[in-house]
Amino acid sequence: MVSKTKSKKSTKVSRAVSKVVGSYQKDKDMLIQILLDLQGMFGCLSQEVLTEVSEQLEVPITQVYQIASYYKAFSLMPKGRHIIKVCMGTACQVRGSPELLNIISAMLNMKPCETSEDMRFTLETGNCLGCCATGPVVKVDETYHTKPAPSDLKKILESAK
Ligand code: FES
Repeated sequence: MVSKTKSKKSTKVSRAVSKVVGSYQKDKDMLIQILLDLQGMFGCLSQEVLTEVSEQLEVPITQVYQIASYYKAFSLMPKGRHIIKVCMGTACQVRGSPELLNIISAMLNMKPCETSEDMRFTLETGNCLGCCATGPVVKVDETYHTKPAPSDLKKILESAK
């Protein structure tokens, strides 16, 4: 028997998963799209969400985890309000992006793929952000900062409240 507390806690997730799974007529072939929709709603795919998807879509939990952990588009950890992405593509690397990444890591006391405790920032790296000629590139949310000097980084991060 499910306890009242657990039942209440899982109602929101259950209902959200039910709505998304239902919108795809419980089609198992739509698993990736279902996970994308749920990640859009929750910001990440928690264990609770994955378990609900497994149960409601009647797909083994191992298969759901396999998909969620394979694709880079999915995050099993909550993300911060601001996503900092430092390009580590070849063109940006030769122009100094590793140094920028080290400085940002030190300023925030975070490694790539980590989220700050206050949920303000998630630090990521990218392989190419599509504007190589202007590198090195640091992207904060939807804003591209091209050729930032190390001394610009503090101001750039402070502008993301
Ligand atoms: S390598 Fe950095 S934008 Fe292409």
